[in-house]
Amino acid sequence: MTHAPVTAGTPYGTLPPASPLPQRKPISLPRLAQMREAGEKITMLTAYDATFAAVADAAGVECILVGDSLGMVCQGLPSTVGVTLEAMAYHTASVARGLHRVQGTAWLIADLPFGSYHESREQALRSACQLMQAGAHMVKLEGGGWTAPTVQFLVERGVPVCAHLGLTPQTVHALGGYRVQGKDEAAARQLRAHAAELQDAGAAMLVLEMVPAPLSRALTAELAHCHTIGIGAGSGTAGQVLVMHDMLGVNLGKNPKFVHNFMQDAGSVRGAIEAYVQAVKQGRFPDDALHAW
Ligand code: KIV
Repeated sequence: MTHAPVTAGTPYGTLPPASPLPQRKPISLPRLAQMREAGEKITMLTAYDATFAAVADAAGVECILVGDSLGMVCQGLPSTVGVTLEAMAYHTASVARGLHRVQGTAWLIADLPFGSYHESREQALRSACQLMQAGAHMVKLEGGGWTAPTVQFLVERGVPVCAHLGLTPQTVHALGGYRVQGKDEAAARQLRAHAAELQDAGAAMLVLEMVPAPLSRALTAELAHCHTIGIGAGSGTAGQVLVMHDMLGVNLGKNPKFVHNFMQDAGSVRGAIEAYVQAVKQGRFPDDALHAW
């Protein structure tokens, strides 16, 4: 599939011109596994609307995450706790339409928000179906231990799952703040056990947020079938993810220290995202020396 030239006005404004570069096939789980096998880093960025999703796709990002960070980024909420399933479905559908308009090829992941998968496996499946029907290829859920049976239930029913360990923002109140996780030996051991269970349950990806770099590197080596995607977790993961607004330097608060503002040296949003993709692929971002926990 190629990127067709779409420059006409849309209800969202003007979409970016087609990329002359990435004549890539649609990104799929086998394609991501091939990339990992070949030692190529996987890139992921959040997007919440049609236009930014199309720009990220054209810039070569493989995975687009409709993160529940949209609560802070788009809705002005203090945390992700207040994000609803309806809001996630709305933004997922917007992103999916944006990708469809430009014949985008990115793999689309949507977050199951707080409270949408906690009651029962059946509730999780209903919530996941809503996001898949809105256009997601995969859903992401936070936490380890109690989530493994839910992951297995979803995977057995054809829903690809990305897990999320380390700093899990939906439980920020239980964690006591946005802190690095897995720092002491017991916490690291528990994180490793949870990650292994999630892989056994069928999770195909695992976001590791704010985890010491040596721990996420070790986990990546341990998890052959589950691709680790780091955010504030060092350079040893199979891929990297950032919140788009953070890496463009347009967030409302202070950027976390592991974020680089790629807009600083770029002439355009697309240029900034291309710079991010190249920096991750070439191993220049993240720089472990800058944010060793
Ligand atoms: O919601 C989100 O944007 C996320 C990323 C920070 C991984 O979960």
